Amino acid sequence: MQNKAILTIKNLDKIYPNGFQALYDINLEIKHGEFIVLLGLSGSGKSTLLRCINRLIEPTKGMINFKDNDVTSADKRLLKSIR
Ligand SMILES: Nc1ncnc2c1ncn2[C@@H]1O[C@H](COP(=O)(O)OP(=O)(O)OP(=O)(O)O)[C@@H](O)[C@H]1O
Ligand SMILES: [Mg+2]
Repeated sequence: MQNKAILTIKNLDKIYPNGFQALYDINLEIKHGEFIVLLGLSGSGKSTLLRCINRLIEPTKGMINFKDNDVTSADKRLLKSIR
């Protein structure tokens, strides 16, 4: 179990409605038990990434998988349990 990814993100883009591209081709894998720090300058997209993962904002493109659930296509009920 230790080496299994619990969170996988592939080719994630976020373009805000005003046309600003906040995330471009984000790829990451977080494994069970890993301790992760998300570092970046103000405006680099940290909050945008976290809000895409919990779907507080809709990703423009890409795949987010959490514990074998497809977050990007999750309905309300599944999303609630994922969160
Ligand atoms: N609703 C929005 N519409 C357009 N652009 C946005 C929107 N929200 C954020 N942005 C822009 O997207 C970029 C990333 O913003 P974000 O808030 O994700 O950065 P951050 O890394 O969390 O910054 P901070 O360290 O200041 O919290 C910034 O350039 C920001 O201005
Ligand atoms: Mg932020």
